[in-house]
Amino acid sequence: MFISFEGIDGSGKTTQIQLLKDYFVSTGLEVITLREPGGTIFSEKIRELLLSKDFVLNSFTELMLFEAARSYLTENIIKPALESNKVVLCDRFFDSTTAYQGYGRGMDKKFLTLCNQMAVSSVYPNITFYLNVQTEISRKRSEKKVADRIESAGDDFFSKVQNGFDELSKMFPERIKNIDANLSIEQVFNQIKIIIENNN
Ligand code: TYD
Repeated sequence: MFISFEGIDGSGKTTQIQLLKDYFVSTGLEVITLREPGGTIFSEKIRELLLSKDFVLNSFTELMLFEAARSYLTENIIKPALESNKVVLCDRFFDSTTAYQGYGRGMDKKFLTLCNQMAVSSVYPNITFYLNVQTEISRKRSEKKVADRIESAGDDFFSKVQNGFDELSKMFPERIKNIDANLSIEQVFNQIKIIIENNN
């Protein structure tokens, strides 16, 4: 099973991924957790380029780097893991591209869909948890972190990205589960657990 987690920065994805990992492991399943961009030495190098404030990247350069990292990760890690029946939990996947590069940066969404399809061939998440959090709460949660290049984009950008995730969850309600992430860690995880248990 392939599960991705989406949401704006500070939505609590990392914590919820760890909790879901522990849950699956306790049921005897083998689990791997990954993050995007990243997850392999190659893709982590691309991540460094993408998040570094040393470079000014235009939207197209940024997009191609995200897709290259994704393509490499999908082919070399995600596909083989799914073939050997592991559970794959990924912190972000192609919906982030639609939300950040499409809704956030204003790139053509049809073009992005095509790029996303090419990057993942036919490896799609079975479930995507969209951790839907108010921008003020996410800002508070991210306060202690030093903002990377993308996180430095400002509130207007994040509202557009948030709107992108909202729209996506309406377009693909079967796959993308809209989770109220303003609640406590336990309450958020409870919503996730119920969906997983009903999915089995
Ligand atoms: P990261 O530190 O992983 O963010 P977070 O911890 O909040 O998940 O940084 C990844 C950044 O890259 C994040 O700001 C979202 C952005 N991003 C895109 O713009 N497009 C993409 O396709 C992906 C995967 C991430």
